[in-house]
Amino acid sequence: MKIAVLANLKKDVPFVKEHPPEDDYWDDLDEPITVRFVVHALRKHGHQAKYIAPNLNVIRRLLNYKPDLCFNLCEGHFGVSREAQIPAVLDMLRLPYIGAGVLGMSLSHNKYMAKKIFHWVGLPTSDFILVTKPDEMPSIDLEYPLFVKPAHEGTSIGINENALVQDKQNLLKQVQWVWSKVKAPILIENYIEGREFTISILGNEVLPIIEIVSPTGYYSNSQKEDENSEVYRVCPAQISKEKKQELQIVALEAMEVLELYDLCRMDLRMDIQGGVYILEVNPLPLLLPDPEQASFVYSSYTAGYSYDAMLYRIVEVAAERLGLKM
Ligand SMILES: Nc1ncnc2c1ncn2[C@@H]1O[C@H](COP(=O)(O)OP(=O)(O)OP(=O)(O)O)[C@@H](O)[C@H]1O
Ligand SMILES: [Mg+2]
Repeated sequence: MKIAVLANLKKDVPFVKEHPPEDDYWDDLDEPITVRFVVHALRKHGHQAKYIAPNLNVIRRLLNYKPDLCFNLCEGHFGVSREAQIPAVLDMLRLPYIGAGVLGMSLSHNKYMAKKIFHWVGLPTSDFILVTKPDEMPSIDLEYPLFVKPAHEGTSIGINENALVQDKQNLLKQVQWVWSKVKAPILIENYIEGREFTISILGNEVLPIIEIVSPTGYYSNSQKEDENSEVYRVCPAQISKEKKQELQIVALEAMEVLELYDLCRMDLRMDIQGGVYILEVNPLPLLLPDPEQASFVYSSYTAGYSYDAMLYRIVEVAAERLGLKM
C-alpha cells in the first residue's frame, strides 16, 4: 500500500508570540524520530511510505501523492478542533486514515464532553463541573479534595503542583492560575485518591495495563517532561484478575462510546475502595520509539510486539476496518 504519514513535528511549530517554540503549550507534538521510525517500519513491511507535513499545502501534496491509507498522528496547532482538523481534511479528500475521525477526536479532546458521555452511558468517572469564565465561578456542589485541570489539554499542560486543592481559597487561586496558562474552560472534579493506570488498546486488544506510581499523588506536567522525575511505571500492573477484567471492559466501552478506532490510550484511577474511574482518553497516543516515555509502546512491547510489529498491527486493524486490501 501507499501510506502517507502525517504528524505535527515540534521542530516545525509556527511562530506565535504567546507560545514561543520552547513553551510547554507544544509538548503534545511529535519528534522527527517518531516519523522516521514509522516510515522506515512501513517500508520494511513492503509498503510505500512518505511523510507529508500537515501544513497549508497538505491538500495539494496529498492529491499528488494519492495514498491508499494515511497514518494520522496530527495533534494540530490551534483551536479546539485541532486534533480533528486533519481527519476532516482527509474525509473531504475521501482518503482513508488510521484512528479516530472528527467526532472521536473532538469528544476526547474535550474532557468535559467525554465525561458527560461517560455519565450518560453509565461509565464511571468522577463528578465534575466546568468553569468557562474564572470570574464567574458556578456554585460548587462537590466535596473536597478537588482536582483542577484544563478541559482541553494533554501532557498535563496546566496541571502543576497545586492542581490538588483542599479548600475554596486554593481552588479559586488554582482556577485563576490555569486560566492564565490556557485561557480556556477549566474542569473541576473530585480528586480520586488511589492507584493510577494507563491502558492502551490496539484494534480490540487491550494491551498489558501499566500502573503509574507517582510519589506526589498525581502526574503533573513538570514530571512528564522531566526524565529524572520520581514517577515510575509497572507493566503489567499487579492487580487481581477480576480488577484487570473490570478495567479492560471499562476501557473497551470508553473507546467505543467515544467512537475511537484502531488505537488509543486512556488514563484511569482506582480509589481506595477499589472503585474504577476514567480520567480521560487519548486517541493519539505517543508513538515515540522509547517505551520509557511512550506508554502505548511500553504496553505493546510487554504484549510481545516489537516496534515494527506494533505498527504493522495498527495498519492491519485499520485496513480491516476500512475494508482495504493489504
Ligand atoms: N480526578 C483526578 N483525580 C486524581 N488525579 C487526577 C485527576 N485528574 C487528573 N489527575 C492526575 O493528573 C494527571 C493528568 O491528568 P489528565 O490525564 O486528565 O491530563 P492530560 O494532560 O490529558 O494527560 P495526557 O498526558 O495523558 O494527555 C493524571 O495522570 C493524574 O495523575
Ligand atoms: Mg492523561
